[in-house]
Amino acid sequence: MSAMISTPPIKTISAPPWIQIRSITPHEFMDMVPGNPGGRIVGQRNFTTTQSVPKTKEFFVAKETNRVRKTPAAWPHPVYTEEQMNTVTVAHREAKNISDKVALVAVKVLRWGLDKATGYKHEKATKLSQTDPAAAAKKYGMTEEKYMIRNVFLESVAGVPGMVAGMIRHLNSMRRLKRDNGWIESLLEESYNERMHLLTFLKMQKPGWFMKTMILGAQGVWCNALFFAYLISPRTVHRFVGYLEEEAVITYTRQIKDLDAGRLPKWENLDAPQIAVEYWKMPEGHRKMRDLLLYVRADESKHREVNHTLGNLNQKEDPNPFVSEYKDDSKPHPSKDLKFPKPTGWERAEVI
Ligand SMILES: [Fe+2]
Ligand SMILES: [Fe+2]
Repeated sequence: MSAMISTPPIKTISAPPWIQIRSITPHEFMDMVPGNPGGRIVGQRNFTTTQSVPKTKEFFVAKETNRVRKTPAAWPHPVYTEEQMNTVTVAHREAKNISDKVALVAVKVLRWGLDKATGYKHEKATKLSQTDPAAAAKKYGMTEEKYMIRNVFLESVAGVPGMVAGMIRHLNSMRRLKRDNGWIESLLEESYNERMHLLTFLKMQKPGWFMKTMILGAQGVWCNALFFAYLISPRTVHRFVGYLEEEAVITYTRQIKDLDAGRLPKWENLDAPQIAVEYWKMPEGHRKMRDLLLYVRADESKHREVNHTLGNLNQKEDPNPFVSEYKDDSKPHPSKDLKFPKPTGWERAEVI
């Protein structure tokens, strides 16, 4: 036997005209909850409200706080024009002495290891694609996911040298009670820029346990190795980073070429994540994955130029030419933007 439950009819009550009714926000509601000062909403996520909605899932969503509206980039990025970014080319600086050769061999070994770990076989793929494109794509084809995983690893190690070099020069300056002449700023800014590359790619790809272990292991070895290497020969480390950045420019150039050739269909109409739009100040109508790759490649070309130049200088005496003001400003000189590109670096006599 079941009892019938009848609900009373709902009466609508209209408020008197002197009371203003408005809806309250979730934060205002949570503010009213006893023992919850600040109205914190546990687990609340921040979703972007701009019209540019990425077509892939965002893996690395920013958490909203009660008080902070926005945290802008610590180092504002210089503005690059599309024309300037299109002039970025693959380049190689010839190894002229023993120090250069040691740096070049070290980069080749690293490149081989990274190719193995990420299943990247560009040379073999190019060779086979000339005779049998379908077989090449099946056997060696780099998918969007494979490229992204590779980029995440590449960027996670790329952010270390600048930080280590900056830290050593910082400690050196304080220990020896001497000026640094502006190097630390550029070195830290470079590692910050690399970390922004990493954060951007993490928005689009979530690394699995294998890649996370690789990153952890690589950082443990890499950071310590660079620390001792920079103490022994900073010039060799700058040359080494210069060569590493040459490889980075090659990698991103290949991704752009693959995208243009239709081999990466998922990226063709993909919007760049909001973090990238804000950091690079990407103009309206130029906020796609291809544009993002152009910006990242241009950054890598800048790191290539900066490190090859620093490798040419007197490490103890010379000022950092990328933050210096010049007596004759009309002549081409090193700069933070892409105004006067010099892919293989500036020679000491040209800048000091
Ligand atoms: Fe990078
Ligand atoms: Fe770089």
